[in-house]
Amino acid sequence: MLSYQHIYHAGNLADVHKHSLLAWALSYMTRKDKPLSYLETHAGRGLYDLSDDAALKTGEAAKGIKIARDWFAPDHPYLQTLARITSVHGPTAYPGSPLIAAEGLRPMDSIHLSELHPQEFAALQANMAPYGGVFRQKNGWDMALSQCPPEPRRGLLLIDPSFEVKADYQTIPKTITQIHRKWGVGVIMLWYPILTDAPHKPMIRALQDALPDAGAHEVRFPPARPGHRMVGSGLFVVNAPYGFAEEAARISALFQDQLSHLM
Ligand SMILES: C[S@@+](CC[C@H](N)C(=O)[O-])C[C@H]1O[C@@H](n2cnc3c(N)ncnc32)[C@H](O)[C@@H]1O
Repeated sequence: MLSYQHIYHAGNLADVHKHSLLAWALSYMTRKDKPLSYLETHAGRGLYDLSDDAALKTGEAAKGIKIARDWFAPDHPYLQTLARITSVHGPTAYPGSPLIAAEGLRPMDSIHLSELHPQEFAALQANMAPYGGVFRQKNGWDMALSQCPPEPRRGLLLIDPSFEVKADYQTIPKTITQIHRKWGVGVIMLWYPILTDAPHKPMIRALQDALPDAGAHEVRFPPARPGHRMVGSGLFVVNAPYGFAEEAARISALFQDQLSHLM
């Protein structure tokens, strides 16, 4: 039973971390005049309205993108995407990762998205229809294992689970290693939450043992509300594009500088 809905969390500081680095990575990868594949296992609905009751209820966007928008230069690929989305869909629109990716891709690139939740999937299909691509209401892990290596071979796979299934922490290292074995050149980006009791630590240790050339990039932030367990956001990246570690460090420093007075 899937209960997670990203509208409650859209535009929070974890999204700012994940989406700014995703936009940067795709902007770098699309500089080369060669097609690429974008795949995403846990897509969500692609487009969110931050004035929705669910988003207002948690207030996470108010403490996320609403303050973080000023942290980025206007020519950063993340801000450029946000500007295009709000100009089309209105000032309270916020793009999910599939839309951030689609906005950065070119007609020669291909998109494969999986989303299991029936309503989220229906919304995803509607929101992504103008961009084209292959959308599946299917388990994202099965999609990644069956689609990799994709054609074209150059590309990026985003894995952004809701971690509702606690076993994910144990199974992810093995599954990502399997995907990497099948698709040695693929950029694989796994998002994970940093919670107060740090369940990500053994998972990251196992990933680093299996994939020593990959790296984890983390930011910390104050909990969105008292008692909230999420205090940071991480991205584990295999085959990171050239310059990614420097951009990730720049973004970590931004989080630290802008939020140190709240920590
Ligand atoms: C964190 S949200 C995705 C947010 C999106 N990546 C973004 O940044 O805009 C996780 C999504 O995964 C979906 N989901 C959960 N388990 C799944 C599975 N095994 N396969 C595909 N989708 C799944 C949930 O319904 C939810 O919409």
